[in-house]
Amino acid sequence: MATMRSVVLKAPIAGLPQPGDFTFAQSDIPALDDHQFLIEHRIASVDPGVRSRLSATGASYAPPIPPGERIDGFVVGQVTESRNTRYPVGSWVTASGGWGSHSISDGRGYILPLSDNGLPRSLWLGILGIPGMTSWFGLKRVGQMREGAHVLVTSAAGVVGATAGQLARAWGAASVVGIAGGQDKCDWLVSECGFDAAIDYKAVDDLDAAIAAACPKGVDILFDNVGNAMVDRVLPMMRLNGHIIVSGQVADYNVPLSERAGITNTGEFIAKRLTMRGILVFDDIPQFAAAQAEMGAMIADGTLVYREEMFEGLEAMPEAFCGLFTGASFGRRLVRLGDY
Ligand SMILES: NC(=O)c1ccc[n+]([C@@H]2O[C@H](COP(=O)([O-])OP(=O)(O)OC[C@H]3O[C@@H](n4cnc5c(N)ncnc54)[C@H](OP(=O)(O)O)[C@@H]3O)[C@@H](O)[C@H]2O)c1
Repeated sequence: MATMRSVVLKAPIAGLPQPGDFTFAQSDIPALDDHQFLIEHRIASVDPGVRSRLSATGASYAPPIPPGERIDGFVVGQVTESRNTRYPVGSWVTASGGWGSHSISDGRGYILPLSDNGLPRSLWLGILGIPGMTSWFGLKRVGQMREGAHVLVTSAAGVVGATAGQLARAWGAASVVGIAGGQDKCDWLVSECGFDAAIDYKAVDDLDAAIAAACPKGVDILFDNVGNAMVDRVLPMMRLNGHIIVSGQVADYNVPLSERAGITNTGEFIAKRLTMRGILVFDDIPQFAAAQAEMGAMIADGTLVYREEMFEGLEAMPEAFCGLFTGASFGRRLVRLGDY
């Protein structure tokens, strides 16, 4: 019988994840039921938000992943067996197949057939996938992006942040400033992504002063990927009727809820009539296709740029994931599992 491999959690994680927190499992590929099809994974992603599901308790949009179960993640793959006419053998999909070699789907949940738009298939896991859609709908729907806005983006050199900043620029922002860790990341944001300025938060002595200097007119839209302490420090710099997009909390995922920073500058919400709202991008799936078509054209004509870091093989997934929390990652982290 054919088998599939998975990466699974050994035990709930406390603090920074380490590659040794994960192990590998093998199982038989069962016979398909009606409407099911088998996807052979060719590329898989590692996503920082998954960390919020690897501890016994934590605030997440989904329950903790128990030890022994495959870790969640997105894949691009090819259908190799099918009892579903919509997904015939040979067709390509992107899906939430998880950290493994294969998955079985019945077409429900997050799965999209891939059209050939002439761009690399890996982009369906990055700038055209869940992260890029988070940038698009976070900025447009949640952040109420408008021409002339002053935009500040955190974890700006990640795929969500870099794409959000570039979209803000393309949609007429008056200024786009990013915060990222390291001079190489900051240089890329300014020279390749068109940010007006980028702050290396690891190098400055006074981050509040650095943000104030880079955003002299204040901030209309904060696109935050980092978490509570970052939101709290930017609140006093928000402008009237500003919007705070709560996209991710990468600095908080490894910290128990009881030890996380709180948000104290809430008086700013009254004085500035601010709105702070979270995004869960799965709410926007019905609108993905239109956004992906527009973004595909923006990538093709060079308006949007992206970076990828490709690891090799399932064995590399734990290491690729753990590097998301140390600053080692620069761009979308993917793992090649086969030809694509
Ligand atoms: N809400 C949704 O529907 C949705 C969907 C997808 C993703 N997201 C969220 O969007 C955010 C960005 O996703 P992404 O895939 O583009 O990941 P990402 O921003 O590339 O995340 C990894 C980066 O986070 C930064 N980081 C790690 N620890 C940090 C810390 N303690 N303080 C500040 N920065 C830290 C590091 O960059 P530096 O070198 O700059 O520190 C690291 O390279 C994530 O938080 C993710 O959970 C949300």
